[in-house]
Amino acid sequence: MTFEITSNPLDKISSDAVLVFVFAGEDKKSFKPLAGFKYLDKILLGLLSKTAELEKFSGKRGENLLVYSSGKTLSPRVIILGLGKKSEFVGDDLRRAVGSFSRSMKKKLDSVSLTLPTNDEISEETIVIAQLVTEGLLLGGYDFSKYKSKDDKKGRVLEAVIISAKDDDRKEIIGGVERARLYSQATILARDLVNEQSAVATPSYLADLALSIAKKDPGRIKVKILNREDAEKQGMEAFLGVARGSDTPPKFIRLEYIPEKSNKKEKLAIVGKGITFDSGGINVKSGDHMSDMKMDMSGAAIVLSVFSVISKIKPDFPVLGLIAATPNLISGKSIVPGDVVRAMNGKTIEVLNTDAEGRVTMADSLSYAVKEKATKIIDFATLTGACMVALGEEIAGLFSNNRELADQIKKAALGAGENIWELPLEKNYKELNKSSVADIANIPNMRYGGAITAALFLQEFVGNTPWAHLDIAGPAFLTKGSDISEKGGTGYGVRTVLNLL
Ligand code: BES
Ligand code: MG
Ligand code: ZN
Repeated sequence: MTFEITSNPLDKISSDAVLVFVFAGEDKKSFKPLAGFKYLDKILLGLLSKTAELEKFSGKRGENLLVYSSGKTLSPRVIILGLGKKSEFVGDDLRRAVGSFSRSMKKKLDSVSLTLPTNDEISEETIVIAQLVTEGLLLGGYDFSKYKSKDDKKGRVLEAVIISAKDDDRKEIIGGVERARLYSQATILARDLVNEQSAVATPSYLADLALSIAKKDPGRIKVKILNREDAEKQGMEAFLGVARGSDTPPKFIRLEYIPEKSNKKEKLAIVGKGITFDSGGINVKSGDHMSDMKMDMSGAAIVLSVFSVISKIKPDFPVLGLIAATPNLISGKSIVPGDVVRAMNGKTIEVLNTDAEGRVTMADSLSYAVKEKATKIIDFATLTGACMVALGEEIAGLFSNNRELADQIKKAALGAGENIWELPLEKNYKELNKSSVADIANIPNMRYGGAITAALFLQEFVGNTPWAHLDIAGPAFLTKGSDISEKGGTGYGVRTVLNLL
């Protein structure tokens, strides 16, 4: 998608359609047009407001209405897009409204022109407004069609965006567009990785991607890949226990970002669950629960995608990215219920259910982060169905042993438009994870509160390091789609981490 900024007015730009915005009326009846609408409505002698009235257009967020301008503007169509009520409006509403426009129009239009809402109309800075609109266009425009051979609109995307703006705003708009491009590029890489079939997106594939990311910036990014034997030497018996059932070689991926000017005090580790396919193992999942389980490496996809752009974000502290990558499969060699493994930090785990494999592999990646003296750890994991029951498909669960870190993550997530809700690390529930033969069991002896007991399990492997766990089982992969994402992988989490960095 190309972006061009011009000082030509909206009626003097040639594109497939002009996009104009309106707020919904507070009283349901009359919507409130923004400047672009008012300008064109005058030129079109009231055609926009008349059509909107006739069609009972309300200005709900994402609602759109197409009007033909019959030669009075260089672009043949005007599309009116609702932003919802002004009294309830937040910046993310703009991203989502434009996202749903982009999602529904990407196969129909090649180019669109628009003026951005101004900072009088919505209370955000121009640079943020430009970022929100651009992210909506880019993220809503994504789809995963590489395996479709017959779709005649395959690959058709919105190609060009022309922004009409005052020369004074040019610099800020370019800044916002560039930031959105970076954020969207990383988000889209994560979507591609999650949507890719597990036969392709294997642990080796993820490891090769890590190597190629480092190759692009060898001064700043270093990668180490541990194979099965290397991991064995590190004492990663928990990770390798899960990996036992598969012929696909497991890989432990360690990425490191080295800042130009190092703030020696801080070292952030980002840990991603990297189960490239979760069959459940010997506790095999039923078919409908298994069909989407290529998505069980969504945490790993976040780590790789963040590292793919980290040199452009330039944090002034070192960052580690850690992924224990393996599928969770079934064979004569698989780990079976009752087996005990020892994690890298020395704690023993009784594997009572092979489908609670994520926490077992992450016991080793979290232990590794502690051993590497990370001063802060954030992990992303599609960990529990229970978190989806609690929060639904669009909200991640946040758990943390550190108030400041949790608040930083919430703020970063808010700016990214990635919904998050904090859940408690209830210490009274710790005993539910007790094992009669090992230090801890990988499933609780209680059906309820499964997202919390899983988080409490992970906590055993971070010691006192400030740590936050995001259970992204819901938002990493949508079964229905949202304003800014088709169904499937969403790249959830990438923009939160980039904001945080
Ligand atoms: N990968 C799943 C969690 C999951 C479920 C992610 C649905 C996305 C959608 C995880 O490995 C798992 O199977 N968890 C079990 C844990 C249980 C056995 C304690 C679960 O949530 O059912
Ligand atoms: Mg599982
Ligand atoms: Zn899993």
